[in-house]
Amino acid sequence: MAMQTFEDWMQSVQTTVEKALSDLLPPAHRLPESLHEAMRYAVLDGGKRVRPMLVFAAGELVNAPSPVLAYAASAVEMIHAYSLVHDDLPCMDNDVLRRGKPTVHVRYGEAGALLAGDALQSQAFVTLSRLDIDPARVFEMLRVLSEAAGASGMCGGQAIDLDSVGQTLTLPQLERMHRLKTGALLEASVFMGCLCGRFPVGEEAAALYAYAEAIGLAFQVVDDVLDATADSATLGKTAGKDAADNKPTYVSLMGLDESRALAEKLRRDAHHALSPFGGRADRLRQLADLIVQRSA
Ligand code: IPE
Ligand code: IPE
Ligand code: MG
Ligand code: MG
Ligand code: MG
Repeated sequence: MAMQTFEDWMQSVQTTVEKALSDLLPPAHRLPESLHEAMRYAVLDGGKRVRPMLVFAAGELVNAPSPVLAYAASAVEMIHAYSLVHDDLPCMDNDVLRRGKPTVHVRYGEAGALLAGDALQSQAFVTLSRLDIDPARVFEMLRVLSEAAGASGMCGGQAIDLDSVGQTLTLPQLERMHRLKTGALLEASVFMGCLCGRFPVGEEAAALYAYAEAIGLAFQVVDDVLDATADSATLGKTAGKDAADNKPTYVSLMGLDESRALAEKLRRDAHHALSPFGGRADRLRQLADLIVQRSA
């Protein structure tokens, strides 16, 4: 059978995940309606769904069943959406535009956005706990996702981000911030996909770790570049915000050309890392290309 094109594959993952997310989130008409509406507003109908695609690509490498991948991908996307809702709050980045729409706190108020984020985080773990597979595997997924989301991952990185406003970080400090605030959840997406099937061992496990590390950092380097070069309409979020807020970024530290070159180097590292898999890992290679070559 001829392999589906990457565009068709992306489309089918996005459709599958949109449906799963809609089913897994509380219905908008159930009380308390404002909370459930805000959760659905934050998650549905928007976003590139890069993390779900990583879950599926990694999962397909280990022959994981699609319904299990849909749950795992939804859990990761719920954590991501929650992180965006809180990232946009006035006490953090104070942003009014996200995924081409007014941010959640603009629509539902600050307390509403805070609670929607909190509830999305819980819903992610509820989703995983409902997986009807080997409990040891579920337990491992809960561990991977909670570590990536918490103080040793996204929240830790966000704390460094806020503490670093107006400061000049060294390159290792900046890299650490980016690996935590963004890299951790992208890396976790790859491992979550693998945990839905038979997790690779030995050389193949090492290859996936190296791949995940490379694309995780690359994603935020490119996010920094796009903040400085793209427009708000294309991004669906406010462009030029990092410089305006005096945030340390790859662009502020190394300049545009060097940041782009670093992203390209990380793309090549990601490809190189996958060599033990041969052609079986082509979807993961295509996702590395997408992450680095995207325009939004
Ligand atoms: C934006 O993530 C926030 C970062 C971690 C850089 P995405 O660029 O994946 O945002 P969506 O999901 O497509 O809206
Ligand atoms: C966000 O980094 C990382 C998160 C954990 C949400 P940014 O603050 O750069 O993300 P954007 O640019 O607002 O999407
Ligand atoms: Mg931020
Ligand atoms: Mg932000
Ligand atoms: Mg950004």
